[in-house]
Amino acid sequence: MAFPVQRPRRLRQREPIRRMVRETRLSVDQLIQPFFVIYGRDVANPVRSMPGVFQLSIDRLVPQVEETYRMGIPAVLLFGIPERKDPLGSGAYDPEGIIQRAVRAIKEKVPEIVVITDVCLCEYTDHGHCGVVSEKGEVLNDPTLELLAKEALSHVEAGADIVAPSDMMDGRVGAIRRALDESGYSHIPILSYAVKYASAFYGPFRDAAESAPRFGDRRSYQMDPCNVREAIKEAQLDLEEGADILMVKPALPYLDVIRVVRDAFPQVPLAAYNVSGEYSLVKAAAQLGWVDEGKIMMEMLLSIRRAGADIIITYFARDIAPVLGS
Ligand code: PBG
Repeated sequence: MAFPVQRPRRLRQREPIRRMVRETRLSVDQLIQPFFVIYGRDVANPVRSMPGVFQLSIDRLVPQVEETYRMGIPAVLLFGIPERKDPLGSGAYDPEGIIQRAVRAIKEKVPEIVVITDVCLCEYTDHGHCGVVSEKGEVLNDPTLELLAKEALSHVEAGADIVAPSDMMDGRVGAIRRALDESGYSHIPILSYAVKYASAFYGPFRDAAESAPRFGDRRSYQMDPCNVREAIKEAQLDLEEGADILMVKPALPYLDVIRVVRDAFPQVPLAAYNVSGEYSLVKAAAQLGWVDEGKIMMEMLLSIRRAGADIIITYFARDIAPVLGS
């Protein structure tokens, strides 16, 4: 006797059944909302290439962070645009710097929310690179580590709950871990941008953060998009140096990398950064009426979860939160 015809459609007939057998879920608990902070009062500069995203002064930022927390989103990631830039990015580790002040203001009004700070120099250096630059124009690794450690420490002293180094210098997680531990902050986690590619998908972000390099590009420190084995090496080194959460960035063009890192390091949470270019492409097509923004954003974020990310950093967090449960 022949077997009966297999009918996978039986489990797709009605929404309650589909809901029951769904393998991947997306909840607000897994989202991190980025914000850009700028000097001044009552400032909300729209970012031209990122509809719906603004550079906000601290007085405008705090109520938005409060609202974000009320929407159920547990964490924000902060980027700062300093008043002045210089070769060593001194605004990054100034106790009165933009991030340090923003963190203090948020912690005063919304102490519950998890404040994560991006630790990097590119927004603060006049040349726009993520590290110290030599006379020959090379980005120097070890002299940068000291500055990054100082920056991370000053964020934590201001009240940051998690620091997230994004510069891609070798050894920075270890340098930051040591600096935090020596100052009594051994309880503060590091979310490492462990696997960060040199990507054109960061274009709109550099408008938002005013951090485009003045010369050259970031290929001497960020990863080559052709490589995936190297992702394991980067992730492993960061874990050995003390990273608590790993990140792959960008997300959508690197879903295979998310899967590889998830499988290679099941012992730690994995984040993925759904970056500015991924956001702007959807917004632009939606504005033209070419795609259904709500559905596209849901499908994209689910694909990042399905690939293996536990946590998603996304400019869509506040847009999607109302349609998600926790
Ligand atoms: C800082 C940094 C960048 C992003 C996050 N941190 C830009 C870059 O490396 O040039 C990109 C985020 C995005 O595109 O949304 N180094």
